[in-house]
Amino acid sequence: MQINDTTAGYGLPTRVFHWLMAVAIVGMYALGLWMVDLNYYSPYYQSAPNLHRSVGMLLLIALVLRFGWRLANRSPSDDELSPIERIAAKIVHWGFYPLLFALMLSGYLMSTADGRPIEVFNWFSVPALIHDKGMEKTAGEIHEFLANLTMLIVLLHSLAALKHHFFDRARTLVRMWSGPAKDQ
Ligand code: HEM
Ligand code: HEM
Repeated sequence: MQINDTTAGYGLPTRVFHWLMAVAIVGMYALGLWMVDLNYYSPYYQSAPNLHRSVGMLLLIALVLRFGWRLANRSPSDDELSPIERIAAKIVHWGFYPLLFALMLSGYLMSTADGRPIEVFNWFSVPALIHDKGMEKTAGEIHEFLANLTMLIVLLHSLAALKHHFFDRARTLVRMWSGPAKDQ
């Protein structure tokens, strides 16, 4: 079993991080849209935002770990892509990290604007660093915008992955799922 990423393909940690975070991030988007329309009498009025905030903080930790892993590893070769696709893939892949960081940070700032910490599944709490009630609205608008932007880029990224797989018959999707080919 390959642990590190090499020029031949992705190791296990990158693949597990990639797919678990992809499912969690898309799920968080759906949860976010659903929960903002709940009214006070819904049984999920408190628990849904608590779940959203808790998973969000765990995702923030996962993002930092994943970024560290990315920096500590080599990126697999992109020989199968055209020069334009190579640049686009680099921008999107590296761009995901600051974009997701800003999305999670805006969620954190909105949630802690009233000075209260975030309770992560009653497991540990993340203190409020900035207490400023006025920040809630601005951070909320930024959060909504970044969440929509993230989903747009995820859509483009997924379509590109499917194009490489089905039309170009490249190994990009296969190596993100099952790792490098055995003969490499
Ligand atoms: C993958 C990360 C995340 C995604 C995709 C995401 C997505 C969303 C979306 C789509 C909404 C609804 C926006 C609207 O229509 O007004 C929302 C709302 C919200 N998010 Fe997130 N979010 C993420 C992370 C976080 C984090 C880390 C926190 C806090 C720790 C957070 C706290 C909130 C709160 C409090 C709301 C409700 C805002 C309101 O009541 O208007 N989110 N999120
Ligand atoms: C929230 C959703 C997603 C995020 C944030 C995301 C992010 C990333 C990032 C940052 C990379 C670069 C490698 C790394 O640093 O880990 C990557 C690679 C990749 N992603 Fe995603 N991804 C998402 C969803 C998807 C989906 C749904 C698909 C397939 C339909 C997909 C297919 C791929 C493939 C095939 C690669 C490898 C590309 C290559 O080898 O050059 N991703 N993704």
